[in-house]
Amino acid sequence: MTKPNDATQDFLDSSQYQTQSILQYEAIYGEDFVSPGGRAMAVEMIERLQLAPGASVLDVGCGLGGSAFVMASEFGLRVDGIDLSKNMLEIANRKLRTRGLSDQVRLEWGDCLQLDRTDSYDAIYSRDVFLHIHDKTRLFSVLKAALRAGGQLLFTDYCCGPKPWSADFTAYVANRGYCLHSAEEYSSLLAQAGFSQVVAEDASARFIEILRSDLDRIGALEIEQSVRDGLERSWRQKLARSSTGDHRWGLFTAVKRPCDSGSPNHTEETT
Ligand SMILES: C[S@@+](CC[C@H](N)C(=O)[O-])C[C@H]1O[C@@H](n2cnc3c(N)ncnc32)[C@H](O)[C@@H]1O
Repeated sequence: MTKPNDATQDFLDSSQYQTQSILQYEAIYGEDFVSPGGRAMAVEMIERLQLAPGASVLDVGCGLGGSAFVMASEFGLRVDGIDLSKNMLEIANRKLRTRGLSDQVRLEWGDCLQLDRTDSYDAIYSRDVFLHIHDKTRLFSVLKAALRAGGQLLFTDYCCGPKPWSADFTAYVANRGYCLHSAEEYSSLLAQAGFSQVVAEDASARFIEILRSDLDRIGALEIEQSVRDGLERSWRQKLARSSTGDHRWGLFTAVKRPCDSGSPNHTEETT
């Protein structure tokens, strides 16, 4: 299958995020979530933002809406979620209708690289999405423009160790169409985009703990044996790639300078 430079809706919906796969991920990560650590990790990340009730958040790559639902119901935040996968959003919006949170949460289809909001959010939150995005310069430019001056960016993402990588990790990244960075590269990209107070944490040890507990959950899933075997194999491979240091996990925070406002600057940067 051809890999796009940046994830496209067709690519995502026909490969990693087919409805059946989404539901399997959800069974492993927990209701409403498709990222490591599920709800508990989301609560921890949202707490870090220390936002007052009523503050506005953009959840980039909102998936099934889990974080958005928690932000609204437990923290009183107003949330816009966008996601590029139609399969993901269809399930997310079905969930939203049953949660009674439609006054606070809006989940829309969209590519975050095409976002054209300016000075709109107190925080931008994203969990394990940027691995799909190759044009990080454009990404951070667009996200900074969408934040209010002084607004916060918080994201977690799959990261990588230094090259050369093992053949297995190289093939895995290519097959998924991922674009991974080290924590240091992410720090530089954020600083180049003009963010201040950039903090990059290597959270790989936490990731390994999460993978181990995921394996217990996979073992207990009431699904066809062959499917469970496939998931176990895939999680053991993730553990092996993490143990060698090729596959890492990072947590990043940054702030848009209080005096900074206006439109994205990626057009100027590329001319
Ligand atoms: C691993 S899932 C994480 C979902 C959610 N953040 C969570 O924590 O459960 C990654 C998500 O990123 C979305 N995504 C990938 N590329 C995107 C893009 N360019 N714009 C918006 N969403 C994107 C995918 O469709 C998918 O829902």
